[in-house]
Amino acid sequence: MSGHSHLFSSEPPLCGAMKTFLTLLAFTSVALAVVSEYGQCGGQNWAGETTCADGLACTSYNEYYSQCIKSTSSAATTSTTTIKASSTTSGPFSTTKTTASSSATAVPLTGYVKTSGTKFTLDGKVFTPVGQNSYWVGLSSYNTTVMDLAFKDMTAVGATVVRTWGFNEVVGGPAYDGQIYYQNWNGTTPAINTGSDGLASFDNVVATAKANNVKLIVALTNNWSDYGGMDVYVKQILGSDNHDLFYTDEKVIAAFKDYIKTFVTRYKDETTIMAWELGNEPRCRGSTGTSTGTCTPAILTAWAKDISAYIKSLDSNHLVALGDEGFYNQPSAPTYPYQGGEGIDFDANLNISTLDFGTFHSYPISWGQTSDPQGWGTQWITDHAASMKAANKPVIIEEFGVDANQTTVYTAWYAEIESSGLTGDLIWQAGSYLPT
Ligand SMILES: *[C@@H]1O[C@H](CO)[C@@H](O)[C@H](O)[C@H]1NC(C)=O
Ligand SMILES: *[C@@H]1O[C@H](CO)[C@@H](O)[C@H](O)[C@H]1NC(C)=O
Ligand SMILES: *[C@@H]1O[C@H](CO)[C@@H](O)[C@H](O)[C@H]1NC(C)=O
Ligand SMILES: *[C@@H]1O[C@H](CO)[C@@H](O)[C@H](O)[C@H]1NC(C)=O
Ligand SMILES: *[C@@H]1O[C@H](CO)[C@@H](O)[C@H](O)[C@H]1NC(C)=O
Repeated sequence: MSGHSHLFSSEPPLCGAMKTFLTLLAFTSVALAVVSEYGQCGGQNWAGETTCADGLACTSYNEYYSQCIKSTSSAATTSTTTIKASSTTSGPFSTTKTTASSSATAVPLTGYVKTSGTKFTLDGKVFTPVGQNSYWVGLSSYNTTVMDLAFKDMTAVGATVVRTWGFNEVVGGPAYDGQIYYQNWNGTTPAINTGSDGLASFDNVVATAKANNVKLIVALTNNWSDYGGMDVYVKQILGSDNHDLFYTDEKVIAAFKDYIKTFVTRYKDETTIMAWELGNEPRCRGSTGTSTGTCTPAILTAWAKDISAYIKSLDSNHLVALGDEGFYNQPSAPTYPYQGGEGIDFDANLNISTLDFGTFHSYPISWGQTSDPQGWGTQWITDHAASMKAANKPVIIEEFGVDANQTTVYTAWYAEIESSGLTGDLIWQAGSYLPT
């Protein structure tokens, strides 16, 4: 999980010159086939019509898809907008630093993200989440100038979505002056911090994301002890080191629901939030190493059902996902991430009606798949795309990383993401202003 940036390349827009030509022709009443509103007008390997009807601009969402939408500029029929950065490299993604085009004009992303089959939609069009993780943007005591810089750098390379943390537990107050924290525990009692070093600071994250036209996926707790997470609830309420009680103890579940209620209802009407995630990488077996020995995939699936239904009962505007690593529960499969040992059953969870899409991560080396990390990860993508089609819900690879051979490995994985039709991808992690 090393920090590095992830950059996109793009083809230059195709349709500007052609449209100027057509605008002239229009005065001579020559009828030509043009693309109507919401029709495709470009993208890699697009061989169809590239000219939009009057008043529409051919707008590039990514290198694979351009669409005719109502132009907001006065030079409607001759302008082409793009949300892409310019790049000197070919291929879908580049690993070298590119410079954002200063003429890039973002298409405002105004509505709530919804699902339709295996796709996401936004404002009536297909919406493809591509981008990065940035857990740190809200938790590093940044002012809005620095938050804005971070989002600008992320969107300049094409991000439509950024995944971030909506939790930070502290016990007995902040550890240092100016620390951002969202919940403070005194004994068994948590107090949500709505002040300027609490949720008011997360308001700034949301506002700067919105200003940069990017949607947020927000995880509500952590399997890991970074920024508190599940272990703090269990330790404070039960005095136990048993991580797995997070999923079953009634008092713990009630406390987590209280936190969810405050956080989620605060942003219920905020279109910048794309989705809530129950947690980052929920698993059986805690960081403390103590297990109940009875934490099974069925327990985690029941917990996911309960918590996701609770979020839906508070907020029907936003999508909900689990935020898990996408492990399968096939005990006789040859490799460990498929065997169910971490308490996750990807296919069973994808069946939960209050989870709108599936998530998975890919860290073959940390997961012991060292003989062929690239090939193993490619198959991991293929298999999750098959689950996506079987369940007819979107599935995104929302974290991935290898420490070696990144260009080769990611090129292969991105190729498989495209050819398998996977719904979207977010790399771990990117940004110009990492705290470490
Ligand atoms: C925001 O933070 C940066 C980095 O610490 C600092 O250079 C800048 O002066 C701050 N801006 C404001 C308006 O406080
Ligand atoms: C923590 O709670 C105890 C009572 O349980 C109370 O006496 C104490 O003042 C509280 N501490 C703070 C910092 O609120
Ligand atoms: C998350 O789960 C895994 C699996 O047991 C564990 O190794 C890791 O330390 C966990 N973190 C926490 C906080 O449970
Ligand atoms: C998911 O639902 C489908 C359709 O109801 C069912 O056939 C399948 O067995 C379920 N998968 C799991 C793992 O529960
Ligand atoms: C990186 O690629 C080289 C050449 O294919 C290979 O020998 C090496 O094992 C790879 N390293 C890792 C960690 O995958």
